[in-house]
Amino acid sequence: MQLVQSRKQTAELEVQELEGEQPLERIKHINDVLRAICAVNKLIMRENDRGKLLKGVCKCLIDTRCCYNAWIVLLDESGGLVTTAEAGLGKDFLPVIEQLKRGELTDCSAMTLDSGRGTMTLQVEHDGKVYGLFSVCPRDFVTDEEEQALFREVALDIGFALHSIDLEEERKRAQEEKKKLESQLKYAQRIKALGTLAGGVAHNFNNILTVIQGNTSLMLFNTHPTHPHYERLRNIEKSVQRGAKLTSHLLGYAREGKYKVKPINMNQVLKETSDAFGETKKDIRLHRDLAGDLWGIEGDQGQIEQVLLNLYANAADAMPAGGELFLKTMNVTHEDMGGKPFRAKPGNYVFLAVSDTGTGMDEEALERIFDPFFTTKGLAKGTGLGLASAYGIIKAHGGYIDADSEKGHGTSFEIYLPASEKNERNQP
Ligand SMILES: Nc1ncnc2c1ncn2[C@@H]1O[C@H](COP(=O)(O)OP(=O)(O)OP(=O)(O)O)[C@@H](O)[C@H]1O
Ligand SMILES: [Mg+2]
Repeated sequence: MQLVQSRKQTAELEVQELEGEQPLERIKHINDVLRAICAVNKLIMRENDRGKLLKGVCKCLIDTRCCYNAWIVLLDESGGLVTTAEAGLGKDFLPVIEQLKRGELTDCSAMTLDSGRGTMTLQVEHDGKVYGLFSVCPRDFVTDEEEQALFREVALDIGFALHSIDLEEERKRAQEEKKKLESQLKYAQRIKALGTLAGGVAHNFNNILTVIQGNTSLMLFNTHPTHPHYERLRNIEKSVQRGAKLTSHLLGYAREGKYKVKPINMNQVLKETSDAFGETKKDIRLHRDLAGDLWGIEGDQGQIEQVLLNLYANAADAMPAGGELFLKTMNVTHEDMGGKPFRAKPGNYVFLAVSDTGTGMDEEALERIFDPFFTTKGLAKGTGLGLASAYGIIKAHGGYIDADSEKGHGTSFEIYLPASEKNERNQP
């Protein structure tokens, strides 16, 4: 619409020129301004990068020789400087930036439009929203009402373009958020379905194991160790115990384990479990960076230890020739958890990270690590239930777990557990 208006004005001026109503120089200058407006309008139509748009507008005004210099600054709601663009000023623009940073208006900004002379500074706005300031120093240094109106039009066009960019960015953000939520929902549904299945199987399996265990114990009680069946019975008992461990993993995953909740000092748990782990893996160097004023959490210590031990075991498997294991704790809030594949409930969290310098994983493996029975270790070595149960346990504690890895560049697991409402501070 602005473009149509400019063209109309060009036509009017051409008529005026023909009629010889204005001095030739003045008409030439106004024509330069109109050419600049046309160029600005064209730019606005195609440019959706804020920085390039502002720079382009300033450059258009200089290239069409309608101004000595031009600058645009975008300000936030409290008047803070967001971004700047200029043409024709170079380093002379720096004092202007400094002044604006101090929240002061520049001399040119203070100069009113109706003074009719000098630099013009206009507000860039659209629909009541102020984006910043736009300033030009017209070439003949004299501005009349007509010229002021034309530059006001440029300021309006810039405001409209910034508004369009805002809308487009908002649309993209909403689309990305929708995609993220959809994939989170899909994942949660899959985990829930698998959890129900795993929980059901584990319960029944547990009942069967209890019967086998009971009968085996009774038979062992009545069998002398020298009896040929004694060793066989012992083997059955060991297998039942392995089966019981597996079902406990499955129940952890299905979040149906029995939770004994009490206050936990995560620094203490990390220290104790990692010390025990370090004893068994001498070629892995442990590094601990534990927050001194860590908040307490409420949880089942046994289950949390199970999560950590599996993370350490996985790290050790990924570093067969030794390496480094980093443990970190920190107090965070939901606001520090942006950019994660989950949307955290508002509140305080205890963050802990377990990072190794092992083999790492490709993206395909990383996507599946929390799936039950996903293992790359072969059936004889891994059940693929360690991380699935870790996921279930952390979820059951109202927390979040996330992993980051790159093939050949190690792996990092991040856990967020809700801080205890009592907010006891732990010593490192
Ligand atoms: N720190 C790590 N570095 C590299 N790969 C890992 C790491 N942690 C997990 N993985 C990958 O994720 C898979 C699943 O891990 P998970 O703990 O669930 O099962 P597992 O370790 O294979 O079996 P289990 O825990 O029963 O011994 C592993 O087989 C491995 O491929
Ligand atoms: Mg494991």
